[in-house]
Amino acid sequence: FSLDLLLIPAAYLIGSISFAVVVSKCMRLPDPHSYGSGNPGATNVLRTGNKLAAVLTLIGDALKGYFAVMLARALLGDAALTSTLNSWLLCGVVVAVFLGHLFPIFHGFKGGKGVATACGILFGINWILGLATLSTWIIVATFMRYSSLAALAAAVFGPVYFIFLFGFHPMALALAVVSALLIWRHRNNITNLLNGTESRIGSKKKAQA
Ligand code: G3P
Repeated sequence: FSLDLLLIPAAYLIGSISFAVVVSKCMRLPDPHSYGSGNPGATNVLRTGNKLAAVLTLIGDALKGYFAVMLARALLGDAALTSTLNSWLLCGVVVAVFLGHLFPIFHGFKGGKGVATACGILFGINWILGLATLSTWIIVATFMRYSSLAALAAAVFGPVYFIFLFGFHPMALALAVVSALLIWRHRNNITNLLNGTESRIGSKKKAQA
């Protein structure tokens, strides 16, 4: 048994801190589960009209993904991305921090959809990968004004960018798992997009989804 394995539960616990809930509590805003899409994420917090709260949620949820990966890389050494054993461990950390955000132990397992956390994870793996995927989100969000559609596009392209940059490394599989979970969490958004009922960025109204 290697102590390094403890990085996986540690990553899950870090991911379990929902910044939408924490920031809302600190700023005396309603619980994000109680309005809009009911999702504890930056997009839904923005529906309160409080941009600072949304930005702080976004930064917090992204930083926890980034921090978990950077912590693992620091403890495993730079070999984390190249040595086979450590790279699988890093894959476990990536999936664990993401699952923490989706099913947080501190918030009754009612978590978010993982967009900001996935972005932080990608920056932790490689900044070019993070920037390419974030740019994809920004381009789609700017032209289409749907946060969810931008996230879905970024989820599809993130693993593709990884393979383009690093080839078929185990991490490509971990990122594909993250993307698949992210897309699954957006299933109501996909239905709303297809029905033309998805709310655009900044719009305060949204049916419970
Ligand atoms: O970050 C989640 C976003 O893609 C969709 O959020 O609240 O519109 O379901 P929401």
